[in-house]
Amino acid sequence: MKITENVTWIVKIDWELRKFHGEQLSTYKGSSYNSYLIRDEKIAIIDTVWKPFAEEFISNLKQQVELDKIDYIIVTHAEPDHSGALPLLVEQAKNAKIICSANGAKSIKGYYHKDWNFQTVKSGDKLSLGKNEITFIEAPMLHWPDTMMCFLSGDNILFSSDVLGQHYASYELFDDKVEDKELLYYEALKYFANIIAPFSKKTIKKIEELISLNLPIDTIATAHGIIWRKDIKTIIDKYLEWSNGYKENQITIVYDTMYDSTRKMAESIAEGIKSVDKDCVVKLFNSARSDNSDIITEVFRSKAILIGSPTYNNGILNSTAAILEEIKGLSLEGKKAASFGSYGWSPANVKIINEFLQNSGFELFEESVKTQWSPNQEEMTKLMEFGKKFAEFVGK
Ligand code: FEO
Repeated sequence: MKITENVTWIVKIDWELRKFHGEQLSTYKGSSYNSYLIRDEKIAIIDTVWKPFAEEFISNLKQQVELDKIDYIIVTHAEPDHSGALPLLVEQAKNAKIICSANGAKSIKGYYHKDWNFQTVKSGDKLSLGKNEITFIEAPMLHWPDTMMCFLSGDNILFSSDVLGQHYASYELFDDKVEDKELLYYEALKYFANIIAPFSKKTIKKIEELISLNLPIDTIATAHGIIWRKDIKTIIDKYLEWSNGYKENQITIVYDTMYDSTRKMAESIAEGIKSVDKDCVVKLFNSARSDNSDIITEVFRSKAILIGSPTYNNGILNSTAAILEEIKGLSLEGKKAASFGSYGWSPANVKIINEFLQNSGFELFEESVKTQWSPNQEEMTKLMEFGKKFAEFVGK
């Protein structure tokens, strides 16, 4: 599909994809690996696709261009979902140079163990294709050390790599063609929360730098999902908002439970919160029965979280440990938290959870709440009171 007269979307839409980054990240809406062919006096291709689709990609590309006519293969970052078809392409595009950042050359060599014909570029470097030229903008750690964006003059397209993208499979190429806008933005938020959030400080700086360059961007062509041509300002503003201590009026309660005691505790605490802050969105997730990537998205958008687990042997339940580990990796800032849980003979649970939360950058509520065996009516009332006090601690 053509984006402009000179630029063609060589895409692999992966409708079946349900897990990404191995088994780590859920992708209910599938995804796409977006590669772009630019025809000018010189011919360039930006990125490839994941290895399982390499042959299909090469075959599609051959219908568009003779591979030995390709002058440049531009790699915006070396992660295998975009570089997987590189070995096959390099083998057949015999006259092409690989254009990447210095870190990109290192990662490509690290993955494919080949000393190909590399030309490294840095921010501000330009590559003339004939009528139009590409300007490179390095964006290290968004989200890989070698990430870079490229701006194509004339067509005014910013190839943004993973930044501003979403895992969203669709034959509709552009944002204004997508029917379910709410879902598109949810997927963009989920992508940010799970992948970009740990690098928020670098994201703000890079987006501000991008704005200050005053590039006449008509299109943002991402490495995954839908291409932005209508909502360019909206998605850029969203990224600035998301990367700057983002929080909505929401408290998320994540718990696991063996015999329903910790679940009952979670529900009583939620009632307490709602009784004093009616406008606050309160959401509960059993971490053993919910998708971790969705929980992370909800944690990301919350002003505060509560984590609950019973004591299990000398520790906590494994789904709680897993979600805590994932939350820790996000380096979130400006959020508050507390812990709760039931126990039989060892109330070690809340101490373990509190240590995790503190080491993950949360401001911890001075109280935790634990119940031996199962909460009775009196304890349920205390749990509601705990919820009220926590809501007051969190504030509006
Ligand atoms: Fe889409 Fe970071 O690879």
